[in-house]
Amino acid sequence: MPFYILAIESSCDETSAAVICDGKVISNSIATQIEHAKYGGVIPELASRAHQTNLIHVVKLALSEVCVSENQLSAIAFTQGPGLIGSLMVGCTFAKSFAMALSIPLIAVNHMHAHVLSHFIDDPKPEFPFLCLIVSGGHTQIVLVKQFDNMIVVGQTSDDAAGEAFDKIAKLLGFEYPGGPQIDKHATYGNENRFKFPEPKVEGLNFSFSGLKTAVINFLNHETKNESDFISKNVNDIAASVQLRINSILISKLKKAAKEYGIHQIAIAGGVAANKGLRKLLLQQASENQWKIFIPEFQYCTDNAAMIAMAAWYKFLKNDFCSLDTSADARLPF
Ligand code: KG4
Ligand code: ZN
Repeated sequence: MPFYILAIESSCDETSAAVICDGKVISNSIATQIEHAKYGGVIPELASRAHQTNLIHVVKLALSEVCVSENQLSAIAFTQGPGLIGSLMVGCTFAKSFAMALSIPLIAVNHMHAHVLSHFIDDPKPEFPFLCLIVSGGHTQIVLVKQFDNMIVVGQTSDDAAGEAFDKIAKLLGFEYPGGPQIDKHATYGNENRFKFPEPKVEGLNFSFSGLKTAVINFLNHETKNESDFISKNVNDIAASVQLRINSILISKLKKAAKEYGIHQIAIAGGVAANKGLRKLLLQQASENQWKIFIPEFQYCTDNAAMIAMAAWYKFLKNDFCSLDTSADARLPF
């Protein structure tokens, strides 16, 4: 009899449910919350309410799409953290109640581990050890992955995350939240070498993006003083130049990490991994440094329950279940 696990993701602004059968993700349904766009960022209270509204529907869809009934489930998995506490609580409470009603085990998943394990959803899969750059709206981390359950952060941001830098700069350019994809789109038509933004000097494998944001603010203030429609006239070139700088910061630290650990298998994960410029730079590096690179399918880059299901599967194999008094943890450590 096959083992089916239902997984729930609700850490930020995507409500998602997925079903995994014997280690293979067979369904992944996602409801993206659009209510935050006009506020320029995710509003936590709105996010938890939207999760409450969407969750049952998304779960029903994930199960019905593959004709799996709740009685066939062997476990329920959920994102324990890190993330927005109200949002996490919706998924956590639902998962606990469902597991209790069905008398089946509960699996708590770390959202960041799941981003790394999104590389095991489809082929080709990396071999251990590999390096994974997680670039999302809340995190920028280089992770040394030794095993499914053995990974350590070797570098991280000391201030803004890469996605946050994209979003904050996008806001200055007049784009709605999330602005990362808008910068990506406009950058396609722009000259990335037109404007030069500074590269921060940060020790070791760590990152910093807040200086870049300040540099862009100062630059735009200066230029719009002389020419009020400077942004609209040059938006593609600004987007391309900002994107190049964010990505070059990421790639330069990744190169350093690869050298330091002598690892040639490089993976990227998280929402910013969808960025076309980052993918292009990574491909260049792959051919220059004989890297084998792993980039997840677009739907598995941004937050999704398929990656939670994948991470849950490895815990299921080890009987690594949690009790019903497990709670959501907004600052769950890596
Ligand atoms: O992993 P994710 O879906 O959620 C978090 O856990 O944060 O990442 C969302 C982030 C946002 O900052 C969004 O602007 C960024 O990923 N993002 C992009 C692109 N697509 C999403 N940034 C740059 N280019 C993209 N194509
Ligand atoms: Zn994420």
